[in-house]
Amino acid sequence: TRRVTVRDIALAKERGERWPMLTAYDALTARVFDEAGIPVLLVGDSAAMVVYGHDSTIPVTVDDLVPLTAAVARATRRALVVADLPFGSYQASPAQALDSAARLMKEGGAQAVKLEGGRRVAPQVEALVAAGVPVMGHLGLTPQSVHTLGGYRVQGRGEAAAGLLADAKELERAGAFSVVLECVPAELATRVTAELGIPTIGIGAGSGTDAQVLVWQDMAGLSPRVAKFVKTYANLADTLADAARSYAEEVVSGAFPDPEHSYS
Ligand code: KIV
Ligand code: NA
Repeated sequence: TRRVTVRDIALAKERGERWPMLTAYDALTARVFDEAGIPVLLVGDSAAMVVYGHDSTIPVTVDDLVPLTAAVARATRRALVVADLPFGSYQASPAQALDSAARLMKEGGAQAVKLEGGRRVAPQVEALVAAGVPVMGHLGLTPQSVHTLGGYRVQGRGEAAAGLLADAKELERAGAFSVVLECVPAELATRVTAELGIPTIGIGAGSGTDAQVLVWQDMAGLSPRVAKFVKTYANLADTLADAARSYAEEVVSGAFPDPEHSYS
């Protein structure tokens, strides 16, 4: 086995093959997803919410994401590991973006990074690509800009569609290898997908993109609230709560540990 590379991702688009991406933040779940054949794993800044308990992605730092990225990279053999550049770690300058990406790659073992924004981050994308860093873009609902967007809402409706398409084209021109489209009308995502040579990865963007991504705790039923675009494929919160209650009951009653789980 060898790792999936950005070349494999480019080939998949040429062949018209759709592929799944999931987030991952720790060794055991990353290993499960890797062995299940998920080709791309994202150490998202959504860790701010699902790992660290913040109510937006804004507080998370490169220091927070490095150890999570390292755990995911160590636990996987096949998946391409992409790490998010957190808010404030790349906007100031291309040099800042390169410093942050270098940490996620050298200390974290990421093979690519993702950043939010279109035309305004083109200089950062160009500098990273020139330095040999594969870059994934992210357009539409960009959670690091939640205070500018005025909440977590659908983007790219009406007049805004042309701007989103221009941003996507600029990311491709600057050298990005793929672009996430979050919470945009399906019709717009399909149009962007047709007009770009690089793959689009949808989340709340309909079925017309080249790939899909979900936050794993959302799709596995661990997150308490999920957006309309999330489909839950398991009910981990219920499963874990049942396990915790059974364990607690058996400790209180004395049923656990029994001789089978004890040393003589
Ligand atoms: O941080 C994240 O999990 C993401 C995905 C939802 C695309 O950016
Ligand atoms: Na993110």
